[in-house]
Amino acid sequence: MSIVQNLLNSRRSIYHFTEQKVKSSDLEIAFEAASNAPCHKQTHPWNYYVLGDETRKKILPAVISLSKNKAINNKDEENTSSVNRAISKIMDVPVIIAVTTKLSPEDSFREEEDYAATVCSLHNLVLSLWDMGIGSQWSTGSITRHPLTYTVLEINNELEKIVGFLKVGYPKNIPEKQKKKVSEIRKFLP
Ligand SMILES: Cc1cc2nc3c(=O)[nH]c(=O)nc-3n(C[C@H](O)[C@H](O)[C@H](O)COP(=O)(O)O)c2cc1C
Repeated sequence: MSIVQNLLNSRRSIYHFTEQKVKSSDLEIAFEAASNAPCHKQTHPWNYYVLGDETRKKILPAVISLSKNKAINNKDEENTSSVNRAISKIMDVPVIIAVTTKLSPEDSFREEEDYAATVCSLHNLVLSLWDMGIGSQWSTGSITRHPLTYTVLEINNELEKIVGFLKVGYPKNIPEKQKKKVSEIRKFLP
């Protein structure tokens, strides 16, 4: 199998990262791949915001309150370890990138196509990183939709929507995932 085919088939979401730093130059290579994704009408609807420590700290009040609310809703005992885990998921990840797509409230088809293009771009980014031995995980946790996140990142929620955070770093381990068989997902029609 070619290197590219192997890259496509071996990629897995990575949930635990080593402390090894990701070089900015490697991120730039991956952003170049992201930038080359297809998009209809040349709308280039994606933007990437790399969250520094200061920015991450500013969203912690929302992280903490979401974690406490989750404990209440699940009728779990509110405990410091679940709050600390939530904080760690933001503060201890080597790189966090907020990914946005352009909104077009006046044109729902354009918005749908733009979302599709943004996902192509995001996956280009993921695969480019994977090619360099760098793992990532797409996260759509509540913090990605919280109003404080938009305020801190200075994203206008009428123009752009955060489609997720991409957590990036060197894999501690690569999980196995069961996928559908090819015979289950494709049909050749007459
Ligand atoms: C749109 C989207 C949102 C996701 N959001 C989350 C998330 O919030 N939390 C999480 O742990 N994984 C999230 N994932 C990762 C998926 O759980 C993962 O892709 C899935 O388990 C398949 O594993 P694989 O990526 O290793 O093939 C998300 C994936 C996608 C495509």
